[in-house]
This record gives sequence, structure tokens and C-alpha cells, in this order.
Amino acid sequence: MRIGFIGTGSMGSLLIESFLRSGALQPRQITASSRTLARTERLSAKYPGLTAVSSNVQTVFQSDIIFLCVKPLEFPHVLSEIQEALNPDQIVVSITSPVQISHLEGILPCKVAKVVPSITHAVLSGASLCMYGQRILPEDRLLLEQLVSSVGTPVLIEEAHVRAASDISSCGPAFLAFILGLWADSAAELTGLHRATAVHLGAEMLLGTGRLLTEGGFSLEQLTQRVAVPGGVTAEGLSVLKQHLISVFPELIQATTRKHEHDLTTLDTSFSQLEERDD
Ligand SMILES: NC(=O)c1ccc[n+]([C@@H]2O[C@H](COP(=O)([O-])OP(=O)(O)OC[C@H]3O[C@@H](n4cnc5c(N)ncnc54)[C@H](OP(=O)(O)O)[C@@H]3O)[C@@H](O)[C@H]2O)c1
Repeated sequence: MRIGFIGTGSMGSLLIESFLRSGALQPRQITASSRTLARTERLSAKYPGLTAVSSNVQTVFQSDIIFLCVKPLEFPHVLSEIQEALNPDQIVVSITSPVQISHLEGILPCKVAKVVPSITHAVLSGASLCMYGQRILPEDRLLLEQLVSSVGTPVLIEEAHVRAASDISSCGPAFLAFILGLWADSAAELTGLHRATAVHLGAEMLLGTGRLLTEGGFSLEQLTQRVAVPGGVTAEGLSVLKQHLISVFPELIQATTRKHEHDLTTLDTSFSQLEERDD
């Protein structure tokens, strides 16, 4: 199986390196192109056997599955470049949430999937959100999920839920890091605990909490009840959180949804122009 990557910025290179580290792919199976050739050449120097090419069309010619790892607004340009090079047996995987599968299927002659990854795949962890187009066969889905499970956990979701789901799985690491930073700042300022110690404790706590919820058999409610014994310190802290956090997540979801809808509208216009040009 030959895998191509178009765009080797933050997420494209992270996926390549994670697939290699997991052993799911060997460098010789990978072809990559990006706007700046030097970026992909750095990867081919680091992983001998990986092919860095200067054109996206070459990546398409040399791959069975092609991951599109460019920013949403770059999609129309990249798709118009590669559409004629693709054949019906190839699979194009978009890793970005606002590009609709229907848009991709309307323009490309191949099979289409959307897999939204997470930075947590760098440590072979976290969820990848999987959505499939109409041309994807059961065996294609199996193949993609085998590949994705080498770096994380594939989770099937409906495309309509991709924003709320990727807020948690893809943006979540940034949100939690931000919250932990504020917490550590306060601990340092108010108590003198070293900030680095607070961050270290928080990171270990996040890891352990995730494991309790995924493999420890705890539900959120059980975990809260087990730690927050009546009359204890945790209960005091929880009452502060209940008072102040209640409006935060509705606002967060509204804000990310607004941005997502703005991106969808911009992309709708670009894709309509592309489809009209093709007719
Ligand atoms: N970062 C995350 O945690 C995360 C999580 C889930 C999904 N995603 C999705 O991943 C996608 C990429 O995000 P990113 O964070 O990796 O962005 P990034 O670091 O800016 O990488 C984008 C890459 O695309 C390349 N590129 C731009 N135009 C191109 C073209 N016409 N042909 C080939 N390559 C081109 C850029 O090349 P240059 O280096 O030359 O500019 C850059 O290397 C986004 O759609 C995002 O939604 C990201």
C-alpha cells in the first residue's frame, strides 16, 4: 500500500512521523509533497526511503491513499490541481473538518473519506474522527481504520457533528493545556508551588484521568463521586467550578460553530466556482 501526503506542515508531518513510529508504514511506502519542497526534503533526509516530490500530481500518481493535509482554504486550489490525475480506485482522505465530503465527491473521481486527527497521535493516542463518502467500500473502511488505529482510536461520527466532536478531540488538547496553565499560574502565585511542578502534576493527572475513563471502567459521574466525598475539599472546589463554568462550554461551542460556519460559507463559494468550471 502506497500512501501520499499533500501538505507536510504541522499535521501532515505529525501523521507521517506517527505512522512510521507505530510501524504501520515504512518510509518507502510514503510519497509527500508540500508547497515548500524543503519541508518534505527534511522528512526524506530523516527517513531514508521516503519520497519527497515537488508536485502534488506526482504524489497522486505514486499513491493508493492520499491524505490532504492542507488548510481548508487551500483545498479548492489543490483539488483543481490533482482532480484529473486521480482514478476511481484511489482514496482521498481529507483531514480538515469544514471541507464537506459532498464537495470532494462532486469534484473528484475517486473514493473519499474524512479523518480528522489529533495532535495526541504524536504519542499514538487520542481519537481520529472518521467519516466516509458513498464510494467507500467496506474493505476501504477497514483499511483506513487499520491504518488510523496504529496512531489512535478511530471513532465513526456523522459529518454533521464534526465541529462539536473535533472541538473535543482535536482542539481539546489546546483547551486543556490552556486551562492547566491558568491553574498552575494560580497555584504558583497564591501558594508558591513551583509552576513546573504544578504543570507536571496536572499532566500526570490528565493522563491518569483519561485512562480511568477509557480502560478503568469509570463513568464521569462515578469518578466525580469517588473523589468528591461529602464535606471534603474536592466538593468545595467543585462548587466553585459549578458556579463559574456553567456558561463556558455553550459559549465555546457557539464560538467554534460560528467560525466553522464562516469557513463553510467561504468554501461553498469556492467549490461552486470549481464545479461550474468543470460543467
Ligand atoms: N493542527 C492540528 O492539531 C490539526 C488537527 C486536526 C486537523 N487539522 C487540519 O490539518 C490541516 C493542516 O493543518 P496544519 O496545522 O498542519 O497547518 P500547517 O502547519 O499550516 O500545514 C499546512 C501545509 O500545507 C502546505 N500547503 C499549502 N498549500 C499547499 C499546496 N497548494 N500544495 C501542497 N501543500 C500546500 C503548507 O506548505 P508551506 O509549508 O509551504 O506553507 C503547509 O506545509 C488543516 O486543514 C487543519 O484543519 C489540524
